[in-house]
Amino acid sequence: MGSDVKYHVHLNREMLEGAEVAILPGDPGRVGKTARYLDPDAHFVASNREFTSWLATLDGHKVLVCSTGIGGPSVSICLEELASLGITDFYRIGTTGAIQPDIELGSLIITTGAVRLDGASTHYAPIEYPAVADLELTNSLVAAAREFGLPHRVGITAACDTFYPGQERYDTFTGYVPRRFQGSLEEWRHLQVLNYEMESATLFVIASVFGLKAGMVASAIVSRARSETPDDTVLALAEENLARVMKRALQIRFASLS
Ligand code: URA
Repeated sequence: MGSDVKYHVHLNREMLEGAEVAILPGDPGRVGKTARYLDPDAHFVASNREFTSWLATLDGHKVLVCSTGIGGPSVSICLEELASLGITDFYRIGTTGAIQPDIELGSLIITTGAVRLDGASTHYAPIEYPAVADLELTNSLVAAAREFGLPHRVGITAACDTFYPGQERYDTFTGYVPRRFQGSLEEWRHLQVLNYEMESATLFVIASVFGLKAGMVASAIVSRARSETPDDTVLALAEENLARVMKRALQIRFASLS
Protein backbone atom coordinates (compact mmCIF):
# COMPACT_ATOMS: atom_id res chain seq x y z
CA MET A 1 0.00 0.00 0.00
CA GLY A 2 1.49 3.39 -1.02
CA SER A 3 2.11 5.97 1.70
CA ASP A 4 -0.48 8.28 0.15
CA VAL A 5 -3.20 5.66 0.65
CA LYS A 6 -5.48 6.60 3.55
CA TYR A 7 -5.23 4.22 6.47
CA HIS A 8 -8.86 3.06 6.82
CA VAL A 9 -10.54 3.61 3.45
CA HIS A 10 -7.51 2.32 1.48
CA LEU A 11 -7.98 5.06 -1.13
CA ASN A 12 -5.69 7.69 -2.60
CA ARG A 13 -6.31 10.64 -4.93
CA GLU A 14 -5.39 8.68 -8.03
CA MET A 15 -8.08 6.08 -7.33
CA LEU A 16 -10.72 8.82 -6.97
CA GLU A 17 -9.97 10.18 -10.47
CA GLY A 18 -10.93 13.71 -9.42
CA ALA A 19 -14.23 12.81 -7.72
CA GLU A 20 -15.54 15.60 -5.51
CA VAL A 21 -18.86 13.96 -4.63
CA ALA A 22 -19.40 10.89 -2.48
CA ILE A 23 -22.50 8.84 -1.76
CA LEU A 24 -22.29 7.21 1.65
CA PRO A 25 -24.48 4.20 2.39
CA GLY A 26 -23.87 2.56 5.76
CA ASP A 27 -23.89 -0.99 4.39
CA PRO A 28 -20.91 -2.20 2.31
CA GLY A 29 -23.34 -4.57 0.56
CA ARG A 30 -25.20 -1.63 -0.99
CA VAL A 31 -22.16 0.07 -2.51
CA GLY A 32 -21.81 -1.90 -5.76
CA LYS A 33 -25.56 -1.86 -6.43
CA THR A 34 -25.78 1.89 -5.89
CA ALA A 35 -22.74 2.59 -8.07
CA ARG A 36 -24.04 0.40 -10.90
CA TYR A 37 -27.43 2.12 -10.72
CA LEU A 38 -25.65 5.41 -11.45
CA ASP A 39 -23.41 3.91 -14.10
CA PRO A 40 -23.48 0.33 -15.47
CA ASP A 41 -19.70 0.61 -16.02
CA ALA A 42 -18.94 1.59 -12.42
CA HIS A 43 -16.01 -0.29 -10.91
CA PHE A 44 -14.84 -1.57 -7.56
CA VAL A 45 -11.95 0.46 -6.10
CA ALA A 46 -11.07 -0.74 -2.60
CA SER A 47 -12.36 -2.46 0.50
CA ASN A 48 -11.09 -2.46 4.08
CA ARG A 49 -13.11 -3.15 7.22
CA GLU A 50 -16.52 -1.41 6.82
CA PHE A 51 -15.28 0.87 4.03
CA THR A 52 -16.02 -0.48 0.55
CA SER A 53 -15.62 1.89 -2.40
CA TRP A 54 -16.76 1.91 -6.01
CA LEU A 55 -16.33 4.67 -8.59
CA ALA A 56 -19.07 5.68 -11.05
CA THR A 57 -19.35 8.34 -13.74
CA LEU A 58 -22.57 10.35 -14.03
CA ASP A 59 -23.09 13.17 -16.53
CA GLY A 60 -19.31 13.45 -16.91
CA HIS A 61 -18.67 13.69 -13.15
CA LYS A 62 -16.84 11.06 -11.13
CA VAL A 63 -18.86 9.88 -8.12
CA LEU A 64 -17.39 7.84 -5.29
CA VAL A 65 -19.72 5.45 -3.47
CA CYS A 66 -18.17 4.50 -0.11
CA SER A 67 -19.81 2.70 2.82
CA THR A 68 -19.37 4.18 6.28
CA GLY A 69 -20.40 1.26 8.46
CA ILE A 70 -22.81 1.93 11.32
CA GLY A 71 -22.64 4.91 13.64
CA GLY A 72 -20.73 8.12 14.26
CA PRO A 73 -17.18 6.87 14.95
CA SER A 74 -16.81 5.15 11.58
CA VAL A 75 -18.55 8.07 9.81
CA SER A 76 -15.98 10.43 11.35
CA ILE A 77 -13.10 8.31 10.00
CA CYS A 78 -14.68 8.14 6.56
CA LEU A 79 -15.23 11.91 6.40
CA GLU A 80 -11.73 12.74 7.63
CA GLU A 81 -10.09 10.54 5.02
CA LEU A 82 -12.38 11.36 2.07
CA ALA A 83 -12.20 15.11 2.77
CA SER A 84 -8.43 14.96 2.69
CA LEU A 85 -8.67 13.24 -0.72
CA GLY A 86 -10.70 16.11 -2.17
CA ILE A 87 -14.35 15.07 -1.59
CA THR A 88 -16.42 18.18 -0.86
CA ASP A 89 -20.04 16.96 -1.15
CA PHE A 90 -21.32 14.05 0.94
CA TYR A 91 -24.76 12.48 0.39
CA ARG A 92 -25.73 9.84 2.93
CA ILE A 93 -28.33 7.24 1.92
CA GLY A 94 -29.66 4.90 4.55
CA THR A 95 -32.51 3.20 6.34
CA THR A 96 -34.41 4.59 9.26
CA GLY A 97 -37.10 4.09 11.87
CA ALA A 98 -40.09 6.42 11.50
CA ILE A 99 -41.21 8.09 14.73
CA GLN A 100 -44.25 9.97 13.40
CA PRO A 101 -47.17 7.50 13.06
CA ASP A 102 -48.34 8.86 9.68
CA ILE A 103 -45.06 7.96 7.94
CA GLU A 104 -45.63 4.77 5.93
CA LEU A 105 -43.01 2.06 5.48
CA GLY A 106 -40.89 2.77 2.40
CA SER A 107 -41.41 6.54 2.66
CA LEU A 108 -38.35 8.71 2.24
CA ILE A 109 -37.16 11.08 4.95
CA ILE A 110 -34.87 13.94 3.94
CA THR A 111 -33.10 15.31 6.98
CA THR A 112 -32.67 19.06 7.44
CA GLY A 113 -31.15 18.85 10.91
CA ALA A 114 -30.28 16.21 13.48
CA VAL A 115 -30.74 15.91 17.23
CA ARG A 116 -27.22 15.19 18.45
CA LEU A 117 -27.61 11.97 20.41
CA ASP A 118 -24.21 10.80 19.16
CA GLY A 119 -20.81 11.10 20.80
CA ALA A 120 -18.50 11.54 17.82
CA SER A 121 -19.81 14.97 16.79
CA THR A 122 -18.92 16.34 20.26
CA HIS A 123 -15.26 15.64 19.45
CA TYR A 124 -15.53 18.20 16.64
CA ALA A 125 -17.77 20.93 18.07
CA PRO A 126 -19.54 21.67 21.36
CA ILE A 127 -23.11 20.43 21.77
CA GLU A 128 -24.53 23.94 21.18
CA TYR A 129 -23.25 23.76 17.58
CA PRO A 130 -26.09 22.77 15.21
CA ALA A 131 -26.12 19.57 13.15
CA VAL A 132 -27.61 20.94 9.93
CA ALA A 133 -27.63 19.68 6.36
CA ASP A 134 -26.38 21.73 3.43
CA LEU A 135 -29.27 23.57 1.78
CA GLU A 136 -28.27 22.91 -1.84
CA LEU A 137 -27.73 19.19 -1.37
CA THR A 138 -30.98 18.93 0.57
CA ASN A 139 -32.89 20.84 -2.12
CA SER A 140 -31.56 18.47 -4.79
CA LEU A 141 -32.88 15.48 -2.81
CA VAL A 142 -36.28 17.10 -2.27
CA ALA A 143 -36.57 18.04 -5.96
CA ALA A 144 -35.73 14.46 -7.00
CA ALA A 145 -38.27 12.89 -4.61
CA ARG A 146 -40.94 15.34 -5.85
CA GLU A 147 -40.18 14.64 -9.51
CA PHE A 148 -40.79 10.91 -8.99
CA GLY A 149 -43.88 11.56 -6.86
CA LEU A 150 -42.40 9.42 -4.08
CA PRO A 151 -43.87 9.81 -0.59
CA HIS A 152 -41.38 11.83 1.41
CA ARG A 153 -41.04 14.04 4.48
CA VAL A 154 -38.49 16.76 5.14
CA GLY A 155 -37.39 17.66 8.66
CA ILE A 156 -35.58 16.71 11.83
CA THR A 157 -33.98 13.34 12.61
CA ALA A 158 -32.84 11.97 15.98
CA ALA A 159 -29.33 10.62 15.35
CA CYS A 160 -28.38 8.15 17.99
CA ASP A 161 -25.27 6.14 18.93
CA THR A 162 -27.28 3.06 19.81
CA PHE A 163 -29.96 1.20 17.88
CA TYR A 164 -31.47 -0.33 21.05
CA PRO A 165 -31.58 1.76 24.29
CA GLY A 166 -31.00 5.14 22.63
CA GLN A 167 -33.93 4.49 20.29
CA GLU A 168 -35.97 3.22 23.26
CA ARG A 169 -36.22 -0.42 22.25
CA TYR A 170 -37.32 -2.84 24.99
CA ASP A 171 -37.05 -6.08 23.00
CA THR A 172 -33.41 -6.50 24.11
CA PHE A 173 -31.14 -8.75 26.20
CA THR A 174 -32.01 -7.02 29.48
CA GLY A 175 -35.29 -5.44 28.45
CA TYR A 176 -34.16 -2.34 30.34
CA VAL A 177 -33.90 1.17 28.92
CA PRO A 178 -31.93 3.63 31.10
CA ARG A 179 -34.04 6.40 32.60
CA ARG A 180 -32.46 8.98 30.30
CA PHE A 181 -34.19 7.34 27.34
CA GLN A 182 -37.44 6.14 28.94
CA GLY A 183 -40.25 8.11 27.31
CA SER A 184 -37.85 9.68 24.81
CA LEU A 185 -39.62 8.21 21.75
CA GLU A 186 -42.87 9.88 22.81
CA GLU A 187 -41.04 13.13 23.53
CA TRP A 188 -39.37 13.22 20.08
CA ARG A 189 -42.78 12.53 18.54
CA HIS A 190 -44.23 15.57 20.35
CA LEU A 191 -41.24 17.66 19.27
CA GLN A 192 -42.01 16.79 15.61
CA VAL A 193 -38.88 14.71 15.12
CA LEU A 194 -39.54 12.47 12.13
CA ASN A 195 -37.23 9.50 12.58
CA TYR A 196 -34.30 7.70 14.18
CA GLU A 197 -31.03 6.84 12.51
CA MET A 198 -27.40 6.67 13.59
CA GLU A 199 -25.12 8.79 11.41
CA SER A 200 -26.59 12.15 10.37
CA ALA A 201 -25.51 14.21 13.42
CA THR A 202 -21.87 13.20 13.03
CA LEU A 203 -22.02 13.69 9.27
CA PHE A 204 -23.57 17.18 9.43
CA VAL A 205 -21.41 18.54 12.23
CA ILE A 206 -18.13 17.36 10.70
CA ALA A 207 -19.06 18.55 7.20
CA SER A 208 -20.01 21.97 8.61
CA VAL A 209 -16.84 22.24 10.70
CA PHE A 210 -14.78 21.37 7.61
CA GLY A 211 -16.64 23.96 5.48
CA LEU A 212 -17.98 21.14 3.26
CA LYS A 213 -21.49 20.00 2.30
CA ALA A 214 -23.63 17.09 3.47
CA GLY A 215 -27.18 15.90 2.79
CA MET A 216 -29.13 12.86 3.85
CA VAL A 217 -32.03 10.75 2.60
CA ALA A 218 -33.30 7.60 4.29
CA SER A 219 -36.09 5.12 3.71
CA ALA A 220 -38.36 4.04 6.59
CA ILE A 221 -38.09 0.31 7.27
CA VAL A 222 -39.94 0.33 10.58
CA SER A 223 -42.75 2.43 11.99
CA ARG A 224 -42.08 2.85 15.70
CA ALA A 225 -45.77 3.53 16.35
CA ARG A 226 -46.41 -0.12 15.40
CA SER A 227 -43.23 -2.14 15.93
CA GLU A 228 -39.66 -2.18 17.23
CA THR A 229 -38.43 -4.52 14.49
CA PRO A 230 -37.48 -3.46 10.96
CA ASP A 231 -39.52 -5.06 8.19
CA ASP A 232 -37.15 -6.77 5.75
CA THR A 233 -39.84 -7.01 3.07
CA VAL A 234 -39.56 -3.27 2.38
CA LEU A 235 -35.76 -3.33 1.98
CA ALA A 236 -35.72 -3.97 -1.78
CA LEU A 237 -38.17 -1.10 -2.41
CA ALA A 238 -36.21 1.13 -0.02
CA GLU A 239 -32.95 0.48 -1.86
CA GLU A 240 -34.50 1.10 -5.26
CA ASN A 241 -36.14 4.37 -4.22
CA LEU A 242 -32.94 5.59 -2.58
CA ALA A 243 -30.91 4.82 -5.70
CA ARG A 244 -33.46 6.54 -7.98
CA VAL A 245 -33.64 9.66 -5.84
CA MET A 246 -29.89 9.78 -5.35
CA LYS A 247 -29.16 9.54 -9.08
CA ARG A 248 -31.66 12.27 -9.95
CA ALA A 249 -30.46 14.50 -7.09
CA LEU A 250 -26.91 14.26 -8.43
CA GLN A 251 -28.08 15.15 -11.93
CA ILE A 252 -29.90 18.19 -10.54
CA ARG A 253 -26.84 19.18 -8.53
CA PHE A 254 -24.43 18.77 -11.47
CA ALA A 255 -26.75 20.77 -13.73
CA SER A 256 -26.82 23.60 -11.17
CA LEU A 257 -23.01 23.73 -11.18
CA SER A 258 -22.61 24.04 -14.96
N1 URA B 1 -31.83 2.53 11.48
C1 URA B 1 -31.96 2.99 12.75
O1 URA B 1 -31.06 3.60 13.29
N2 URA B 1 -33.13 2.76 13.39
C2 URA B 1 -34.14 2.06 12.84
O2 URA B 1 -35.16 1.87 13.50
C3 URA B 1 -33.99 1.59 11.52
C4 URA B 1 -32.82 1.84 10.86
